[in-house]
Amino acid sequence: MKKTPSRMWGGRFEKGPAAEAEAYSRSLHFDSRLAPYDIEVSLAHSRALRKAGILTEKELRAIRRGLREVRREVLSGKASFLTGEEDIHTWVENRLRKKIGATADKLHTGRSRNDQVAQDLRLFLLDRVDDALGLLVKLKGSLLDTAERYDGALAAGHTHLQPAQPILLAHHLLAYFEMFQRDSERLRQLRPRIAVLTLGSGALAGTSIPLDRRLVARELGLKEISSNSMDAVSDRDFAVEFIACASLVMMHLSRLSEELILWSHPSLGWVDIPEQYCTGSSLMPQKKNPDMAELARGKTGTVIGRLTGILTVLKGLPLAYNRDLQEDKGAVFDTADILLSSLEVMAPLMKGVVFKTEKLRETAEAGFSFATDLAEHLALRGLPFRRAHAAVGELVKWCIGKKVSPDSLALEDLRRFSPLFDRRSLKLISADASVRSKKLPGGTAPSRVRAALAAARERNT
Ligand code: ARG
Repeated sequence: MKKTPSRMWGGRFEKGPAAEAEAYSRSLHFDSRLAPYDIEVSLAHSRALRKAGILTEKELRAIRRGLREVRREVLSGKASFLTGEEDIHTWVENRLRKKIGATADKLHTGRSRNDQVAQDLRLFLLDRVDDALGLLVKLKGSLLDTAERYDGALAAGHTHLQPAQPILLAHHLLAYFEMFQRDSERLRQLRPRIAVLTLGSGALAGTSIPLDRRLVARELGLKEISSNSMDAVSDRDFAVEFIACASLVMMHLSRLSEELILWSHPSLGWVDIPEQYCTGSSLMPQKKNPDMAELARGKTGTVIGRLTGILTVLKGLPLAYNRDLQEDKGAVFDTADILLSSLEVMAPLMKGVVFKTEKLRETAEAGFSFATDLAEHLALRGLPFRRAHAAVGELVKWCIGKKVSPDSLALEDLRRFSPLFDRRSLKLISADASVRSKKLPGGTAPSRVRAALAAARERNT
């Protein structure tokens, strides 16, 4: 590195920072990602400076032209960030000075890197929220496509990871739709809390420069301006909320992944994960491993760690700005990258999964999965449910003891356990009948599931 580029501070110092202190505090190698946002923020700020009489029309034009040139360099990928500045704010200002000369020295009037970095991060996050919302629509669309593809297919529903009652496979997939739908809503609700103008807060107290904050907000497409300058520069709960939302998306992806991994075990053989989303083994030639699902599950741990991390950074900070806040960037960037890449992988994976409907049906029918239906049938005929439950429990015990398979049960067998059973009761010994009977809203009856699927298509925004 050549001679240290100019810093934003230093007048009151006899000595420059020690090399290790400079390296320790530098953030350019990660906050360079904020460059496009930092430039937008400066473009908006320049308008307020003009209105406040700090810039002449000519100076404004020079600053805006210079900033747009820097933006072009950044967006074309030609900009180098190996220039040794402390942070992205210094980098942008130095680039601008290279282009337009001393006029650049007026840009930092009435602002601090404290209100600036909070603003940059908010703009960065607004874009990532929109990216995530778009990818969630894709993932939910994949779930719906797959649910539709397996219209009418039965599966075993579980509690305690033990077969419980028959369900439709589509009903199971739609459960995930609901989770991701709530995740989308949460992100949408978070958006306005991020879209707040912090510029004009200065370092902590505001500024004596008469900046038109409403004008700056409009320039940046923000509806709200912060109400308290100290809060504006030191609050990161919008970042915590983003990471919390991301943690929930990841937690849901992780549960889905766990099921795919489990269901693809050959001993179950319920699902085939598309080859393009699996990997092989360097040693065992026969292997096909569900690595993408495992990575999504694993990265969930990393994101949850980031949530704990940022909360821990924030919990002891006195007002207002403290340099600890620089640590928010790692948490936010890492989370955004993991969230978006996980959604990008899981959306096509879920579209391509192949379910083994025969195997799934076998499991749905096995293990007395109709037992609850028989008990409810007796309850509908007037037997108190507690006694109906006991009677069907006795029937199950009798079948197991006598090695009688449910499909060979005769009416006399049923009547050993309750006189309320009749011919029609035998029809309930079927997984199809079982799902058909769950007609209440939210239930797994085919008619309900089909309607839920159609409604989900409409809701998938
Ligand atoms: N890099 C800092 C951050 O990420 C912003 C700059 C504020 N620096 C300062 N010394 N006040 O929070």
